[in-house]
Amino acid sequence: MSFSYPILPTGHLLAIEGLESPHIAALLDLAESYALLNRQGKTQRDLLRGRTLINLFFEDSTRTRTSFEIAGKRLGADVINMSVSNSSVNKGETLLDTASTLNAMNTDLLVVRHAQSGAPALLAQKVTAAVINAGDGTHEHPTQALLDALTIRRHKGDLRNLIVAICGDITHSRVARSNIHLLGAMGAEVRLIAPPTLLPAEVGRLGVTVFHDMRKGLAGADVVMMLRLQRERMSGGMVPSAREFFRFYGLDMEKLSFAKPDSIVMHPGPMNRGIEIDSAVADHPTRSVIGEQVEMGVALRMAVLDVLARSLRRHA
Ligand code: NCD
Repeated sequence: MSFSYPILPTGHLLAIEGLESPHIAALLDLAESYALLNRQGKTQRDLLRGRTLINLFFEDSTRTRTSFEIAGKRLGADVINMSVSNSSVNKGETLLDTASTLNAMNTDLLVVRHAQSGAPALLAQKVTAAVINAGDGTHEHPTQALLDALTIRRHKGDLRNLIVAICGDITHSRVARSNIHLLGAMGAEVRLIAPPTLLPAEVGRLGVTVFHDMRKGLAGADVVMMLRLQRERMSGGMVPSAREFFRFYGLDMEKLSFAKPDSIVMHPGPMNRGIEIDSAVADHPTRSVIGEQVEMGVALRMAVLDVLARSLRRHA
């Protein structure tokens, strides 16, 4: 595929906010072609041959880290996983010292996850590599929103005018923030369903409709996106008890019956079964697309690495 304009004009992927719909659509088109290649078992190992991709994860991850690793390897990159537990960061090295080390190693692509919002953007100013934000604090997780959009598009076609209900712990969710920006840019209608304690203060400026009653919020929805209750980011008792949370905001088949009969159910993982989602929904053979989200994660990340490597080539 060739492009007449840069898909990621900054040479990094730090956030969805700021990307325009043609950029997003072009990335999704490219990812779609990788999804097809992946299903056919074909790789393109020449694309990133000789390039070094470092996965720098200061927070836990299963899906995101492994899918970047697989994506990089399928395109022929040398992939190195640096997790904080065995790096010098534990010995007090600052983020900027880490950046100089990575520069000295001629890193081409740097995938960063950090508990601090803005850490990947700071690194992007200091490293020569193209930086991809793999989740920063409660700020953004752009590749998750893109893979979610790819999954939705495969089931619903155009994103325009779809009703997408995002439910649960919105306050702590970088996934929600990236999705709100992306879905807004693509013309979908976004609803947030959460108790008042789990909604961010800036909710009024996000261009979304807020519901506290899950059944009302789900009425007529095309897509139901569930979020994990992120207890590790909560300072006090923001939710009464897991049982009570499930009663009001956990998705079971009864509550799902308020959404459109052909609506799809998504979750970025990891799931808390019985807290925000019932197993009957999570494992539903036709309504749940949670497994497909993981599959699309690899294809989408291949597309992002491909696009960023093209701009590296231009600067090389
Ligand atoms: C999410 C994250 O880390 O932000 N997980 C993911 O990347 N698939 C959501 C979460 O941790 O709940």
